[in-house]
Amino acid sequence: MIEFYLNGEKVKTNAAEDTPLLWVIRDEFKLKGTKFGCGISMCGACTVHVDGNAVRSCIYPVGAVKNNHITTIEGLNNSHPMQKAWVEEQVPQCGYCQSGQIMQAATLLAQNADPSDEDIVNHMSANLCRCMAYKRIQKAVKRAAQDSAVGVYEPGSDNQSSGNQSSYNQQVEV
Ligand code: FES
Ligand code: FES
Repeated sequence: MIEFYLNGEKVKTNAAEDTPLLWVIRDEFKLKGTKFGCGISMCGACTVHVDGNAVRSCIYPVGAVKNNHITTIEGLNNSHPMQKAWVEEQVPQCGYCQSGQIMQAATLLAQNADPSDEDIVNHMSANLCRCMAYKRIQKAVKRAAQDSAVGVYEPGSDNQSSGNQSSYNQQVEV
């Protein structure tokens, strides 16, 4: 039995310790916002937060999150400043990579309230977008950082109140 916090709620799973966190989130807890892209930590579609840090849930064993706080895109409650900036900049195209992009971007503001363009590119460089929405992603991150209402994103603040064609062909429920 593995216990952890999922979007602020204490949960338990009987999944094998080496089960990727992604599948526990999606299949057991039915949170489908976190996506499967490559399964080998190469695309970022599966990015979630573990105690405020962005991790690739497709390779992160659930046995490693005992008593940790996990936040998924659902845990941002459509109210995170990054999500608001995403809407304002009309970032998504197909949308598949977007939850991972937002989760990755959210951790940048936790570390750096005023990131430079280079900071943004470096922080987001491992999150791939097949629709090539990179410029809009960068603009949205910049907008979120510049918005005076944004302030500094507090690590863990979202989770303690109570992240090739063949791989894309393997997509499960979207
Ligand atoms: S699905 Fe996890 S990094 Fe691609
Ligand atoms: S918006 Fe389609 S993959 Fe990024």
